[in-house]
Amino acid sequence: MKLEKSIELYTKGKQHLVGAVNSPVRAFKSVGGVPIFIDRAKGSKIIDVDGNEYVDMVLSYGPMILGHRNAVVEKTIKKYLKNGYTFGASTKGEIILAKIVCDAFPGMDKVRFVNSGTEAVLSAIRLARAFTGKNKIIKFSGCYHGHSDALLVAAGSGLATLSLPGSAGVPDEAVKNTLIAEYNNIDSVEAHLAKHKDIAAVIIEPIAGNMGVVLPTKEFIEELRDLTKASGVLLIMDEVMTGFRSKFGGAQELLGIEADITCLGKVIGGGFPVGAYGARNEIMEMVAPLGPMYQAGTLSGNPIAMACGIATLKELKKQDKYKDFEKTAAFLEREMKAAAKENGIDLQVNRFGSMINPFFTKEKVVDFKSAQSCDTKKFKTFFWKMMENGVFLPPSQFEAWFLATAMSKRDIYKVRAAIKVAMKAVAKKHK
Ligand SMILES: Cc1ncc(COP(=O)(O)O)c(C=O)c1O
Repeated sequence: MKLEKSIELYTKGKQHLVGAVNSPVRAFKSVGGVPIFIDRAKGSKIIDVDGNEYVDMVLSYGPMILGHRNAVVEKTIKKYLKNGYTFGASTKGEIILAKIVCDAFPGMDKVRFVNSGTEAVLSAIRLARAFTGKNKIIKFSGCYHGHSDALLVAAGSGLATLSLPGSAGVPDEAVKNTLIAEYNNIDSVEAHLAKHKDIAAVIIEPIAGNMGVVLPTKEFIEELRDLTKASGVLLIMDEVMTGFRSKFGGAQELLGIEADITCLGKVIGGGFPVGAYGARNEIMEMVAPLGPMYQAGTLSGNPIAMACGIATLKELKKQDKYKDFEKTAAFLEREMKAAAKENGIDLQVNRFGSMINPFFTKEKVVDFKSAQSCDTKKFKTFFWKMMENGVFLPPSQFEAWFLATAMSKRDIYKVRAAIKVAMKAVAKKHK
């Protein structure tokens, strides 16, 4: 596998960029070696600057659900580019995208667009505090909700990959109102609710993707909904990763649960920077200009980003590949388990809709603690063999792999072939 040009750019990049990247996971720190630099992508394929072609299962960490440069989406973006890039005044596109989003999530009467998932979540927390007049929030260990101060504790993949418990520069005061509970453990939530009267909200990734894919049990998620309702505490579902991904109406549609506040990102912008938070009228009317909770953004609702989001979501709805996602993910699960068994490797596979990943562990992975039982050295070997065999994976044991509608049967067979080689290599290296 040739990496000369990536090495050259990595060396150059380090001079004026921190670690040559603009988001830590891109540095490949937990798998070692040189991070690849991308030249271009089309459909299900991504090509690095050395000309290596991969089936893309990173998909920009989720947004590219149609694959890259979908023809309809690209045509729409080009059309809107001609009208200008940003105006600081409203456009029709914002209204159209708002309707698509509110129709998909019945719990949302109104939505506010922002520029990232981080911004969506930090605004949702402010909104929950404004609405309830309370301060504390409960988050789950291993769930990541972006990099705002209050949520940068026990925050899953990025930090776990770098073995960081939290982040430097976050003052104690910023996290003193953040309580940590354990995923799939309702008692840990109940204990906080019994002890603290000042709780505004519980925030959860309804299907966790930032400690690898971890599913909530039916009882856990239903009890969480009932418990928060009974306690006058808002339930914030962070669907930045899951929104539109495994069902058009996100994890909430799949699980049959309605959040009080929903956060969105990734797919909603189809590759452009869009985030969103929304809720029923009573809650959203707290947001300025209707109410006293301030939140604003120079580029929020950017017309090109809205156009891309609208085209992506319309196309996604039209293609309706959710059943195919399920079948493909089931196939990959079977193949990974069979290859692991054949080579005597302990492996768990978790998946939900179009999110899937293997865990190199004997233990069933149901929360952050069990996720951390993984042998990350095995993942490292596996990762590089997959890359050598033409499959671009997230460079971390604790990140979900994604499927795109653009993936063909041939692509999936290529992934299967790579899995077989990679599992053999893991067995050989880690006897
Ligand atoms: C569930 C979840 N929430 C929030 C975020 C933060 O989104 P962004 O990276 O767009 O700020 C992420 C990003 O991976 C995420 O997965």
